[in-house]
Amino acid sequence: MIELKHALWELDKVVDVVQLENFFQIYLGKKGLLNEEFKVMVDLAPEEKKQRGAQLSEIKTKLTEAYEIKEQTFKLAQINVQLEKDLIDISLDVSSDQGSYSLLAKVRREIEEVYKSMGFIIDYGHEIVTKFENFESVNIPLSHPATEMHDTIYLEDKDPSGQNLILRTHNSAHQVQDIMKYGVPLKLWSPGRVYRFDSMDASHDVMFRYAEGIVVDKNLSIAHFKDTMQKLLSGILWKNINIRLRPSYFPFVEPGFEIDAQCPICGGKWCSLCKGSGWIELLGAGMVHPNVIKNAWLDPKEWSGFARWVGVSRLAAVKYGIKDIRYFTNGDLRFAKSFA
Ligand code: DAH
Repeated sequence: MIELKHALWELDKVVDVVQLENFFQIYLGKKGLLNEEFKVMVDLAPEEKKQRGAQLSEIKTKLTEAYEIKEQTFKLAQINVQLEKDLIDISLDVSSDQGSYSLLAKVRREIEEVYKSMGFIIDYGHEIVTKFENFESVNIPLSHPATEMHDTIYLEDKDPSGQNLILRTHNSAHQVQDIMKYGVPLKLWSPGRVYRFDSMDASHDVMFRYAEGIVVDKNLSIAHFKDTMQKLLSGILWKNINIRLRPSYFPFVEPGFEIDAQCPICGGKWCSLCKGSGWIELLGAGMVHPNVIKNAWLDPKEWSGFARWVGVSRLAAVKYGIKDIRYFTNGDLRFAKSFA
C-alpha cells in the first residue's frame, strides 16, 4: 500500500526533470500507483472504502502539491541557467576596437545624400544579370564592338533563352527595368558593385564601385544635366578641382560626354593614378538614347532623359588624394584606420 512519507522521501531524492517525470509516472500518472490503489478500492467493504478513499485523496493532494513545488523549482533553476548563458558582459571595453565605414562606403553614402537631397530614388539593383539586360536593353547589340569595352565575366548558369548569365559590367543593365518599375517622370540613383575581367592597376580593379543616375522627364536638356553634376561635384569634392568636359561615345546616350578631374596628386607631372595624363576620368554622361526610351515602352518624342555614371573609387581617390585605388580593398588596417 502506498505511503505518503515514502513517496515524499522519493520525491526529495529527485535531482532533475527526467527523474521528476519518472516520479510523476510512477505515483501520479494515469497508470501510476495512486490510480492503481483507487481501482482496487472497488472490492472493499463500504465503510473501509470510505476510509481508504479519504486517505488516498489526502495522499494525492499532498503529493501533487509537493510535486508541483519541485517542478516549479526546476523551472526557475532552468530560467536562471539560461539567463546566465545569455548574459552580456558589458564591462568589456570595446571602444578602441569599434568598426567604422570604409572610405568607399563613406563616399558612396555622401554621393547618395547629394542625390537624395535632389529627390532621387536609390535602388541598388542586382549584380547577376542577363546579356540582354546588360547590353541589348541599353542599345548595345551583342555583335557591336562596344561590348568589347566591357570585359565580361560569365557565369555557368543560363537565362531562360539559354544564354549564360553574367556579372553586371555597369548599372545601366537595369536602366530600362527601373524606368518600367518606377514609371515616369523618374529620378533614380543606382549605386553598386560592377565586375569586369580587367587587369588590376592603380586605377582599375576587377570589381569596382559604380554609381549611375538616370532622369526621365519631358523637355530635359543638357542644362539640367550640368546643374545636377555641379551639385554632385561641389557636394562631394569640397576642394576646388578643375574639371573638363569631352565629347565621348556610349551607345546608350546621344550626345555623350565624359568629365575628367585634374589629377590632385601630380597635377600632370606623373603619378600612378593619372599615368602622366594629368586627368582622371570621373564621370560619363549624356542624353538618354531614343532607343533606350523606346525599350521602356515610352515615346522618345514625348520623353527625354539624361544619365550619368561615376566611379566611386576614383571620386574617393580624387577627393582624398589617394594614388592607388587598390588601397581601398586590400585590407590594410593602417589605411582603413587613417580614414576611420
Ligand atoms: N555604362 C558606362 C560604362 O560602364 C558608363 C556610362 C556612361 C553610364 C555614360 C551612363 C552614361 O549612364 O550616361 O562604361
